[in-house]
Amino acid sequence: MKKQLTYLPSVFKEFLRTCAESARAHHARIYLVGGVVRDLLLGRDVYDLDILVEGDAIRLAVAIARRRGMPVTRHKAFGTASFIFRGHKIDFAAARSETYLTPGSLPRVRKAGVTQDLSRRDFTINAMAVSLHPAEYGRLIDPCGGQEDLRRHLVRVLHSESFFDDPTRILRAIRFEQRFQFRMEAGTLFQLKRAVGSGALDTVHPHRIRDELILIMREKFPFRCLRRAGKLTGFGFLEPGVRCTPAAGRLLNRIQRLQSFFLRSFGARTEFRLWSVYFTAFLESLSLPQVEFLLEELGMDKRTRSDVRAARSLRARRRRLKAPVLSDDELYEFLHQFPLEAVAYVYAYSTNGRLRRRIRRFIDTLSHIRLRIRGRDLQRLGVTPAHLYGKILRSVLRQKIKKGFRTKEEEERYALGVAERLSRQWASGGRKKGKNS
Ligand code: CTP
Repeated sequence: MKKQLTYLPSVFKEFLRTCAESARAHHARIYLVGGVVRDLLLGRDVYDLDILVEGDAIRLAVAIARRRGMPVTRHKAFGTASFIFRGHKIDFAAARSETYLTPGSLPRVRKAGVTQDLSRRDFTINAMAVSLHPAEYGRLIDPCGGQEDLRRHLVRVLHSESFFDDPTRILRAIRFEQRFQFRMEAGTLFQLKRAVGSGALDTVHPHRIRDELILIMREKFPFRCLRRAGKLTGFGFLEPGVRCTPAAGRLLNRIQRLQSFFLRSFGARTEFRLWSVYFTAFLESLSLPQVEFLLEELGMDKRTRSDVRAARSLRARRRRLKAPVLSDDELYEFLHQFPLEAVAYVYAYSTNGRLRRRIRRFIDTLSHIRLRIRGRDLQRLGVTPAHLYGKILRSVLRQKIKKGFRTKEEEERYALGVAERLSRQWASGGRKKGKNS
């Protein structure tokens, strides 16, 4: 695979050469493994690297990272370590074999060679490695026929108990099948259905289910995966009532069509999470108490919970956005209290022309308006007390939206007026309190 390795971004090529040198110095052999190899063979872009080490992966990762002054995250129990190199995640793992004691549980791990390591993996297309060892640089190690399955567009497990060993592979199989528009090999599909039928997914810890669901929502076309997952699993392993209904399907599809618009509008300036918009849409068939229960059970993080709640709340209050008259500052005031994910969700949800035009105005224009003045300008102007700064700046922003201030001076003048009014109110409030006490 020497040719494919030349397709790697140059930042990686130089980096991998130094990794191989360090490995040699540590008497270890290293390989690129898993998804990277698959993606290189498919000619797809590679963002993160998985490096398999025959030897001590943690020591090697620490030595490589130290030379560049990069902090390392270590997982001693798993013999793995990772660091971020120029924005790319680099994972180091010691080659190992795995034995599953009970279905769905975490496996017992032992040191092994590269071939044994590959044979514990999920699908043939993910069970390939490329040697980076100088003496055999670029040699493809493909003991399970992954290259052939890539050619035939097949997702195939390595053995019949694979889905029982690790039932999250049921969702992974669907994800890869839909991402690459492959097919599930007949025996694999049979084993998948057998595992689903015997409730294998019910044995998985909800947090692992959550992680797989998030990976699905992060796909380029989540709806395809969810539709297929609905057909194959019926989502029986989630809260009863979760279904990919036609309404949810239409909504997921609309989000999919709008995704480049959302990413263009929000992606660059905040940590906008498109996947949480998809996730909210996926829960469409559930009532709010059912949603709350599921989020709790999955152990969803605080931010996602509040995104989902906010989206539901904005949806319930969306009539406000259909009012015959709604000024820009009122529109801003109403929408800016919701996370952008909730705004995106309701934009995709609603087909009402007026409502969509208003959300569009918020997304395209109002949400970009920023003040020229900051707290330090108020300080320079001698405004006191400082705890009123937030309130003053919010009031200037509303007025800027209303009046369209163009210069910093206009903002400052207005801020001084607000400050005077507020500090007078504050002082008289303080005096009153003083009198009463
Ligand atoms: N793997 C596995 N069984 C799992 C999860 C992972 O065998 N349940 C193996 C596969 O070989 C996989 C590799 O670990 O390729 C890395 O896992 P992950 O990063 O989840 O998969 P990628 O193939 O890199 O997927 P993606 O392209 O979505 O990043």
